[in-house]
Amino acid sequence: MTYKDFGLVNTDDMLHRAMAGKYAVGAFNFYNMETLQAILATTRQMHSPVILAVSESALTYMGEGMLMGMIRGANIKPNEQIALHLDHGHSFEACAHAVDMGFSSVMIDASHLPFDENIAISAHVAEYAHERSVSVEAELGMLRGHEDENTNSSDSCFTNPDDAARFVQQTGIDSLAIAIGTSHGAYKRQSDDEELRFDILEEIANQLSDLPLVLHGASSIPQNLLGAINKCGGNIADARGIPTDQLRRAINSGICKINVDSDLRLAFTAGVREFLTMHPENFNPRDYLSAAKSLVQNTVIDEMTNIMDSVNRV
Ligand code: G3H
Ligand code: 13P
Ligand code: ZN
Repeated sequence: MTYKDFGLVNTDDMLHRAMAGKYAVGAFNFYNMETLQAILATTRQMHSPVILAVSESALTYMGEGMLMGMIRGANIKPNEQIALHLDHGHSFEACAHAVDMGFSSVMIDASHLPFDENIAISAHVAEYAHERSVSVEAELGMLRGHEDENTNSSDSCFTNPDDAARFVQQTGIDSLAIAIGTSHGAYKRQSDDEELRFDILEEIANQLSDLPLVLHGASSIPQNLLGAINKCGGNIADARGIPTDQLRRAINSGICKINVDSDLRLAFTAGVREFLTMHPENFNPRDYLSAAKSLVQNTVIDEMTNIMDSVNRV
């Protein structure tokens, strides 16, 4: 099976078009039928390209067969510009397996390894994937805080622009995730004054003018979703995301893939909590999951429109 059998496309064309047009493609993480339906419905309604992102743990949660069954059932056509992407693949084997399953794009995240080892493993993945027309993202530098379950960095380690140029040249990757001050999860900043390192981004974009750059940890953490969760029995205090004006500036400076997971988790949770609070007698999962789906859809619409500017780009 290859990704073409599922109507998927790799990310090369969509990201180069985004780079030329100074907009971004959203990579939204999903982990069940409802989140997949919500992202796909919005993408189609908004005529936007999209990257459907699956982490290794989400893949384990859904199961390979169930995941690819849902992708087949979605009846995707190549002209819709939809990619299926392995997010934070931690080994050559995980990436190669995703390629063989029908993913059209993979990320090899060896950013926690020494520079030369990161180059070696990223180049190996690129060689395997490129033989099968699958696009490859790699990461250099480390995001602040929780990078993922296999990483234990707690300090920020920004991407070095000179290393970035060498890394890309020696690996042959198609896009590069850089560290300029974002972090995964809902607690990204101590204060409202913190700014991303646009100086580093601009220097990298200057040196790698033809390479799509990727921003992980790019959720904006909408305060209305936090408010809804906390009003309905939740307790998520003082969470802060990346302000939308900084995300737009990053896109304007060369970022053309924006990764969002936490915002959709918040939307889903807010939808379930609000519905069950308003309807305490209800115990029909289809009802509260529909409410969750609808808030996820609204969040994707809002971000495609007001952050990524990817609407009507298909
Ligand atoms: O970047 C990481 C994503 O948010 C995935 O998180 O491993 O809990 O699915 P996860
Ligand atoms: P957030 O936690 O900011 O949504 O980041 C998601 C991400 O980078 C997925 O790879
Ligand atoms: Zn990430």
